[in-house]
Amino acid sequence: MRKFALITAIVMLGLPAWAEPNRVTFPPLDQLEHYTTVTRGEVTEHMLTSRAAIDAVEAGQPIPFGTHVVLVDYREGEVYRYFVMQNGEGWGADDPDQRTADWQFQWFWPDRSINVDETTSRCQSCHQSREDREFMFTYNDLRSFD
Ligand code: HEC
Repeated sequence: MRKFALITAIVMLGLPAWAEPNRVTFPPLDQLEHYTTVTRGEVTEHMLTSRAAIDAVEAGQPIPFGTHVVLVDYREGEVYRYFVMQNGEGWGADDPDQRTADWQFQWFWPDRSINVDETTSRCQSCHQSREDREFMFTYNDLRSFD
């Protein structure tokens, strides 16, 4: 019995870090601007961020701390999920590998709950390749948005 409990504890502790609630908050969607759209088959993605972030990128400045960048994933006209990146001063220190500087990532369902079955280090691994563009894939769309 005791042995079983010990094994259970080891197995649980050994699990990778699933989408831990991190510092990313649900974005203030009504305060953000829709700067570009990407379509992938049945999926329509609206990219949103703040006016302050747009102005900073256009001026060649770093995106200010506290910025949300949101990918609203629509399927058949309904929101399926929200992918969110947010930055904050010193947030990179939470990640031992420092993969995406002070940007953290999160996946929210339409009811604003976090998808706890997904690990956000996957988001970081892929976005890491965009280090020179604020870890964003649609950086150039943001820069050319009025
Ligand atoms: C395998 C690579 C990959 C993974 C994993 C990934 N993304 Fe992305 N992400 C992209 C690409 C490419 C785009 C540009 C839009 C497109 O092409 O669909 C993008 C766009 C975004 C955007 C809009 C800003 C930008 O970078 O253009 C956000 C926000 C975002 N992703 C968040 C996330 C979150 C949160 C996760 C994890 C839950 C995640 N991404 C996982 C590749 C990835």
